[in-house]
Parts: sequence; C-alpha cells; structure tokens
Amino acid sequence: MSYVELAKQVAKEAGTMIKNRRESRFTIEEKGNAFDVVTELDKASESLIRKRILEAYPDHAFLGEEESFANHHSFVKSLAKADETPFLWIVDPIDGTSNYVQRIPGFTVSIALTSKGEVIVGVVYDPSQDELFWAEKGKGAFVNGKELKVAGTEDVARSVIATGFPSTPLMREAVLKGIGELGPRCQTMRVLGSAALHLAYVAAGRLTAFWEYGLNAWDVAAGTLLITEAGGQVTDMAGNSYKVSTPHVVGSNGQIHRELLTHLHPIRLDV
Ligand code: IPD
Ligand code: CA
Ligand code: CA
Repeated sequence: MSYVELAKQVAKEAGTMIKNRRESRFTIEEKGNAFDVVTELDKASESLIRKRILEAYPDHAFLGEEESFANHHSFVKSLAKADETPFLWIVDPIDGTSNYVQRIPGFTVSIALTSKGEVIVGVVYDPSQDELFWAEKGKGAFVNGKELKVAGTEDVARSVIATGFPSTPLMREAVLKGIGELGPRCQTMRVLGSAALHLAYVAAGRLTAFWEYGLNAWDVAAGTLLITEAGGQVTDMAGNSYKVSTPHVVGSNGQIHRELLTHLHPIRLDV
C-alpha cells in the first residue's frame, strides 16, 4: 500500500475507534500542568497507529506525541535527526483532546510522513464530520476525494482567522497579543480547539488563516502540507518557511500572509 493510502486508512481506523468510545468512561490525566490533559484513548489511538505503520514499514522511524511525552529524550533526538531520517512518521493520536474530553466535536487524528525533514504526506481525519483530509507532496490536497483550494481573500479585513490556546501561560500570552492585534482588524475569529483542524480548514478555504505559538510537529506537520498543496503558505512568525522544528506557525491562503505577519511577532521560547 502507498504511504498516503496507509496514512488515510490508519487515520480513519484510529479516528473511528476514538469516536466510538467517546461516550464511554475513560481515564483522564494531567500532563505536567492542569492546562494539558491526556486520556487513555490518546494512548490507545497512538498504539494502534504505531502498530499499523510499523507493521507495514518496519524500517521507518515513528514519533508520536504520547510516546514523546513519556520519553522526552527520544523526542528531542528524533526531531534533531529529522533532516537526515529517510522516513519519519509524526503523529498526533488525538489533536483537540480538550474537545474530546468535553464532548465537543472537532478532535482529529493527524498523521504526517517526512523524508529528510520535508513533509511528503499529510492526513488529518475529523471523525465527528467523517472528513478525511489528505495531501501528497506535489499531488494536491483533498477532502473526501474533492480537491482543496485556499480562500481567495486578499486582505485581513475580509479574513476569518483562527488561533489556538496553547498549554503554557507564556505561549497563551503571545496568542493573546496576536488576538489583540488581529481581533480588531479581521472579519471574525475562531478558536476551534484543534491545530490540525484549523490548518485543514485553511486548506479548504473555510478559514483564511491560522496562527499559534508553541506548537509541536505532531500538531501541524500534516496540516502544513494540506495548505501548501492547496495553494497557501506556511511560515514561522518571521516569514521563514515551515520546518518540523518550527514552534510558532502561521498558515494562510498566501495572499494575506505578509499583512498577517505585520501583526504577529517572533518570540523566543526561552524567555
Ligand atoms: C492542542 C490543540 C489545540 C492547541 C494546542 C495543542 P492536543 O493539541 O491542537 O488546538 O491550541 O496548542 O496543544 O493537546 O489536543 O493534542
Ligand atoms: Ca496536538
Ligand atoms: Ca494530542
């Protein structure tokens, strides 16, 4: 099976499992602080995805959010070596865990495949809407088989812009500054609770743009390819092209990108 077909099949299988177990009782734990929680379904989803992918491609590398949290050292090593790794799968088993826990739709499964640091496959599945978004480098982006194209909006004033709520106070302050800048200038704003879904919606032209601070590769790697393959642009806050190590991410239809960046500011992670 091709990489993209495997990613689509596995995202759907994991997404269907988490959706079916949403109404059941599941354990919820804090991950270091009260702003960041994990359920047993995050772990079950990641184990399933890992198993399926490594069964099909045993020599590929795998980076999942929950495993990375448990073993920070291996996470740092995998990302540091991403540029040399022939095939590295980067997976968020549930993006939007807070939505999941609160029984709000809009949680996703996000699966990216990178080759020497470049995202070559990106799949985001939203089980609540049964929408499967996928992209392959150079081959376009699709949702349930329909080709995606970013919005044609030319200015921030006519844009619908989304952001997220990161799990650290410092990153939240940075997001709030951005809301302060862009809120009064854009048509309207959304915070849907899944970075992967936001990026997929930018690719689909439903949102004009999305930005957030303090993200990880598993939140965004798949979604960034959806956007670029749908004709949009993804950078850091200074306008440099997205890399898997980029934590502060702006994705847009491309046309409003420059204007957007004038209102968003680079910040250092260590301040
Ligand atoms: C979170 C979601 C959320 C974003 C946070 C992420 P998680 O991921 O993408 O929208 O604002 O920054 O951490 O914890 O649900 O996988
Ligand atoms: Ca996430
Ligand atoms: Ca997650």
